[in-house]
Amino acid sequence: MTPNQAEIVKKSFPKILAGTLSATHILYDKLFELSPDTRDLFKKTSMERQSQMLIAAIGKLVKSIDNWDTVKPDLEALAKRHAGYGLSPEHFVYFGHAFIHMLKSMYGNEWNTDLEESWKAVYQKISEVMIGTLFENK
Ligand code: HEM
Repeated sequence: MTPNQAEIVKKSFPKILAGTLSATHILYDKLFELSPDTRDLFKKTSMERQSQMLIAAIGKLVKSIDNWDTVKPDLEALAKRHAGYGLSPEHFVYFGHAFIHMLKSMYGNEWNTDLEESWKAVYQKISEVMIGTLFENK
């Protein structure tokens, strides 16, 4: 992730925050389409609450994106809380596709390569830490 990509992601977050609480169903619909087994993981979940928690978590990460050392412990703690959910590393790949798909749908014609590459770079970083915490050293 380049400093410019971090800046693009930071700048685009307010728009995403404004729209995603109503758009997260796009993320989860896509996730369930790409990886149908994930539907069961959320069977007992209030999707509205889940969406709020997801966006709050992403917002917190984005805010400190230039200072990754402060983000990492939070991210590791978040990953550890995912330990009991029965996830596989592939789930993070599908989740990433679904996340980008949601952003694309929200932005419509304003979506561009810079936004896509920047958000992908950020998601890559987030998922690397989460996958590392969850699945390595086991
Ligand atoms: C960028 C990556 C991700 C972020 C930021 C994220 C964030 C969150 C947050 C904030 C929660 C609320 C509970 C807590 O804070 O511990 C949560 C719960 C959960 N997440 Fe994630 N998550 C990510 C990736 C995934 C992936 C890849 C899956 C599986 C496909 C997943 C499945 C779940 C499930 C099953 C719950 C529990 C829902 C419940 O309470 O019933 N998460 N996630």
